[in-house]
Amino acid sequence: GLPAQVGPSILASDLSMLAADSKKAMEQWTADYLHVDIMDGHFVPNLTIGPPVVKCLRKHTTAFLDCHLMVSNPEHWVKDMAAAGADRFTFHFEATNDADALIEEVNKTGMKCGMVIKPKTPVDVLFPYLDRIDLVLIMTVEPGFGGQSFMVDMMDKVKTLRAKSPKLNIEVDGGLNLKTIDTAAKAGANMIVAGSAVFKAEDPKLVVQTLRDKVVQ
Ligand code: DX5
Ligand code: ZN
Repeated sequence: GLPAQVGPSILASDLSMLAADSKKAMEQWTADYLHVDIMDGHFVPNLTIGPPVVKCLRKHTTAFLDCHLMVSNPEHWVKDMAAAGADRFTFHFEATNDADALIEEVNKTGMKCGMVIKPKTPVDVLFPYLDRIDLVLIMTVEPGFGGQSFMVDMMDKVKTLRAKSPKLNIEVDGGLNLKTIDTAAKAGANMIVAGSAVFKAEDPKLVVQTLRDKVVQ
């Protein structure tokens, strides 16, 4: 069946203590994977980390590194991200002119390939690619920053995808917390990214476990 997984977004961690916070998330809070937000200050109005940091993090954890590339020209980063030890390379449909070639390129490296759309992009643009990718990420905020409000309107996209592809991994990212999880889970999402809801929680482990338990299996 489909996995029910929770991936803390390390953007909400103390990035100066990335290794320690990642270890805590995986070992103490029982996270299933780590969500790594790569932003280039061009595709989105924020600048975070890139392959050198992923490479350093890789030395400190065996966690699955789910990398969300909010960059223009994602093609440019496939080799470096693979070499750095990324496990999944999820690129924005809006950022490339040749998704077919990019999927092939990513799959060749051995990384898993994901595709993601921004809130204003309709879900049907992804239909031609579903059989060649590992995961679809439906953004539930405008990409760029943590701590924004969940856009409930995006759930129609999740429902449409779930009806079309019962076995597809559908991830949601942005504003997921104990109040919004039910809506996302009922719509059919099975991979839950949560940044502030986990890292700013009083009891992060309870949040991770509760989010995972809410995913409809
Ligand atoms: C936003 C990022 C998200 C963000 C989520 O561009 O893609 O992964 O870190 O943070 P929260 O869960 O706080 O909305
Ligand atoms: Zn993200």
